[in-house]
Amino acid sequence: MYCSVSALLSMLSAWNLEYAVYYRILPKNLDIILVKFVKNWQIPLWTMFGLSVLAVSVYLTLGWSEAAIRSYVRMSAQISFVLFMLAFSASSLQALFRRGWTAVLLRNRRYIGLSFAVSHTGHLLALFMLAAYFPHPFLDRLSMGTILGGTLAYVIIAMMTITSFEIPRRRLGERYWKWLHLYGSWYLWILFAYSYIPRAMKTEYYIPFAVLLSAVLFLRIARAYKYRQASSKAEPV
Ligand code: HEM
Repeated sequence: MYCSVSALLSMLSAWNLEYAVYYRILPKNLDIILVKFVKNWQIPLWTMFGLSVLAVSVYLTLGWSEAAIRSYVRMSAQISFVLFMLAFSASSLQALFRRGWTAVLLRNRRYIGLSFAVSHTGHLLALFMLAAYFPHPFLDRLSMGTILGGTLAYVIIAMMTITSFEIPRRRLGERYWKWLHLYGSWYLWILFAYSYIPRAMKTEYYIPFAVLLSAVLFLRIARAYKYRQASSKAEPV
């Protein structure tokens, strides 16, 4: 089950799209299909639908149990991870590759970010259910660091979500908006790295997650380098 979800997610990840099209796993006019059917508010709505289908399938497979809720906690985190990585790498991919799909990705970055917020709300709801119905050993093992770090992350996600709308964005001001979205995103990247890198060192299943984290880090650095090169060339001698 985990493997098929993860395979599907990695299949949908930006890098694999082109290969999937090339090898005819996905249709050739994928860009057109993406533009037509997966855009704007449809993305968070599809995410909500997908998360609900996932909840029902976990319930039908594992019943009402601690294992079922934990499995949903993990899967919602994995879906959030892919959505977050897509949103976080969109501008770098567009700056470095400039393809049809990178433009589609960048145009829909806000909605992918909102889908990440939806999915991570699923993670939080599942955690509340775990605490309410199967508190042991979950609550016994919860450290103050996890509670504080996790709460700060949810505050950041809420602020980024609210300020993705025009009026709150204008109220906050462009400078603070950029600050919030830049440092907020890096904080979330660090939390994902903190969760997945130790797991990848123990279990090979998590290696693709660590690879994706590193690839996105590399893309961001490559974009920053490209911009620096461009601005130093533009400077008068
Ligand atoms: C107070 C807030 C949070 C708590 C108490 C919490 C708790 C947990 C727990 C207990 C698990 C493991 C479930 C299991 O293996 O049975 C888990 C998994 C995970 N959480 Fe959270 N979490 C919180 C917030 C976050 C945030 C903000 C992020 C990321 C931005 C995050 C990312 C992850 C990831 C990546 C996993 C691993 C999923 C996997 O194994 O694939 N969590 N969380």
